[in-house]
Amino acid sequence: MLRIILLGAPGAGKGTQAAVISRKLTIPHIATGDLFRAALGQGTDLGNKAKAYMDKGELVPDDVTVAMVLERISEEDAKSGYILDGFPRTVNQGTALDQALEVNQQSIDLAILVDVSDEELIRRLSGRSICRTCQTPYHSENNPPKEAGVCDLDGGELYQRDDDKAETVGNRLQVYSNETAPLIHFFESQGKLVRINGEQDISVVEKQLFDVIDAK
Ligand code: AP5
Ligand code: ZN
Repeated sequence: MLRIILLGAPGAGKGTQAAVISRKLTIPHIATGDLFRAALGQGTDLGNKAKAYMDKGELVPDDVTVAMVLERISEEDAKSGYILDGFPRTVNQGTALDQALEVNQQSIDLAILVDVSDEELIRRLSGRSICRTCQTPYHSENNPPKEAGVCDLDGGELYQRDDDKAETVGNRLQVYSNETAPLIHFFESQGKLVRINGEQDISVVEKQLFDVIDAK
């Protein structure tokens, strides 16, 4: 039973690795960006509200985001643990999560920071495409699909996210360093932070992540 947080800048590889961890540990992969994009795809108010922020590379307000996550982690499949990807993203969200868990005598077990340089992040985001159906990320050079433009897992169409365009990526990295990076200290002071060098092959990063998880 593990509650894991994957921390890292846009493009660090959180989604790529969280999908594997989720499969191997059979715990749900809860990604706030995926939840917002799914809501947008369904045309809900939440999705439309989130889109305005996402398109600019800004964060969706904490109240909306926290409510969405607390509801998701209260679902049946999250009773045996989960992996959070892209949440918390502000110290305020981290505190709200801790408080909500505490009410049920629960807590986060591990916060893993996947560390990647800005130069490499930009390269990864500009070459990324994701599946319209399951949101699995691919990369034109590092992790191409078997057939161009088609998801290996479900045959879904691959597309480039609007916020992966060069003009938005810069702001996302800035927002990360201003608003999300302070969480590194937040988890460090709780004794929960482990750092992994994310600038290695996908399989090497995966192995190091499992070394950390297995030691828990
Ligand atoms: P979100 O969807 O969470 O995006 P993000 O954090 O910017 O992260 P990404 O999905 O861009 O990157 P990733 O780390 O998952 O990398 P990936 O595995 O795809 O958020 C989008 C927006 O939603 C935010 O800007 C905000 O507006 C809103 N939002 C979301 N959560 C929020 C919150 N909590 N509060 C407020 N607002 C929120 O990998 C990237 C690429 O690199 C891929 O092409 C992949 O194939 C490749 N790759 C992966 N690993 C490697 C490797 N080791 N070597 C080489 N290539 C690799
Ligand atoms: Zn797919």
